[in-house]
Amino acid sequence: MCGIVGYIGNQNATPVLIEGLSRLEYRGYDSAGIAVLGSRGTQVFRSVGRVRDLEASLPRRLAGKAGIGHTRWATHGPATEDNAHPQTSEDRRISVVHNGIIDNAATLRERLDARGVKFASETDTEVIAHLVARSEASTLEGAVLDVLSRIAGTYAIAVLDERHPDRLVVARHGSPLILGVGDREMFVASDLAALVRHTTSVVHLDDGELATVTASGFRTFSREEENTAKVPTSVDLDLEDVGLGGYRHYMRKEILEQPSSVERMLRGRLDERFGTARLDGLNLGPRELRWFRRVKILGCGSAHYVGQFGASMIEEVARIPADAEPASEFRYRNPIIEPDTLYVAVSQSGETADTAFAVQEVKRKGGQIVGLVNVVGSTIARECDGGIYLHAGPEVAVASTKALTHMGIGFALLALCLGRVRDLSIADGQRLIAGLRSIPDQIQQILADEPHIAEVAAGLAGAQSLFFIGRVRGFPVAREGAQKFKEISYRHAEAYQASELKHGPLALIDENLPTVAILPDDELTDRNLAAMQQIVARRGSLVVITHPGVTLDDPETPRVTVPKNERELDPILLTVPLQLLAYHAALTLGHDIDKPRNLAKSVTVE
Ligand code: F6R
Repeated sequence: MCGIVGYIGNQNATPVLIEGLSRLEYRGYDSAGIAVLGSRGTQVFRSVGRVRDLEASLPRRLAGKAGIGHTRWATHGPATEDNAHPQTSEDRRISVVHNGIIDNAATLRERLDARGVKFASETDTEVIAHLVARSEASTLEGAVLDVLSRIAGTYAIAVLDERHPDRLVVARHGSPLILGVGDREMFVASDLAALVRHTTSVVHLDDGELATVTASGFRTFSREEENTAKVPTSVDLDLEDVGLGGYRHYMRKEILEQPSSVERMLRGRLDERFGTARLDGLNLGPRELRWFRRVKILGCGSAHYVGQFGASMIEEVARIPADAEPASEFRYRNPIIEPDTLYVAVSQSGETADTAFAVQEVKRKGGQIVGLVNVVGSTIARECDGGIYLHAGPEVAVASTKALTHMGIGFALLALCLGRVRDLSIADGQRLIAGLRSIPDQIQQILADEPHIAEVAAGLAGAQSLFFIGRVRGFPVAREGAQKFKEISYRHAEAYQASELKHGPLALIDENLPTVAILPDDELTDRNLAAMQQIVARRGSLVVITHPGVTLDDPETPRVTVPKNERELDPILLTVPLQLLAYHAALTLGHDIDKPRNLAKSVTVE
């Protein structure tokens, strides 16, 4: 959700900024802009649309050794050139890029307006540019600190000032910001993806931290102007990880990566001898693990749906009551935090504002929270008391796929640990470990069925509305299937418990509303088949995601057959064909798969 890049050094900033912005485009893509500070002062260019549109609008010779750039996902004001960032002061001396939301922007705007400031945009960011320009502080750092004391909300900002061409000043509060350390050059970005081409030496700013960035280095400091000695760390990421690598879409690349990424995630984490998982990062010993009487899982969107099947896995395997709640709701209902509940935050990006706030709420009330997070060093990963890194590698497509599979596996590992300090036997632990070990090969088998899944998807793409049904373990799978489908095909897709159909939704079934049924081979197969008969009796058509050996009433019903694993782990595999189903339906419809309308990766605002 919005991307920031910044550069200062000996190269021309323009190509560095444009390249960085293209790598961040998945964060927001309705408009983009750059400000470059060169011998002719600061030149600002903004454009509606994609980074390539911005690039096409730039003059051939746009040179300068310092600059900032932004790719936007509109929050305050629609996507127009005026509302794109960088926002500038009236005299254009100050340029600012900003991720986040300034809550008191309206009040500050009124005050500035009363003093005769002419606003050129509807953004909240513009107030920052005017306030920095009007600050009486003698240094840029002083001016930025001045402004930070007056604004409320969340932000990552980078500020460029013509009077101080040797530096960028950046600040973070609630929205990620990273410095990249080069050889006599420095980079700034809201996301590692924009840095990997240039450096793997990075500094993650903390909330409340600022930095002065010059060509020769950086200085980090607090809002109280105390230096915060930060040492750069090395990140394990290269260009191949964030590139398309010959694929047409990131989403398909990320789906196909799953066999190898899952294998990597499991490496060193399975303990066959004792039938358990090794999760040192949890920072919880057997006694502590035994002490918890409940598990509460917090995440948003698809992460919440995986949290739901995580909760049922934990209940089945460890026999502890567990449930999942959208983090976006949890934090607003003054939740009761219990000392003997293990809270688990689940997030791919580790930056989702709703989830990060839920983590803070748990901690503020003395609860114990661990994270299942993909992005190393992200806000949520750092705020949690411990956790399990997902090791899915960078996920660029807005629609989450491989990270969700990794979350499912993360919950299985957690369930094993919680189960083995309770009543789960070594033999049962070993049974689950064998199941986990076979997941990479089984995903490979599902992926090999892609041509058939693509045909089924093409058949569904014509429907304006679809149902996805499942029950118990299959219901979160159905929810995630509907979510993926609606996100990128823009078709109305709704998930129901198969058991609930007869209590209302059946009224909608007719020949125009197909249903995708999740039909695992388990103790509920017959009941699921009965629900499917009710659909067929009302002229509804079906696509069935099922296991080998399950006999359908009508053998002609389109089916996708998924290899059977242990019943507790089946939801992980049943979700994979639904990723391909959504992908191919969107492809049939000719949509922009990696950048669906109205959405952006990583929702860092509330
Ligand atoms: C769906 C999707 C979103 C995210 C949600 C949470 O494909 O990507 O629903 O799952 O916004 O994001 P993270 O996992 O980054 O916290």
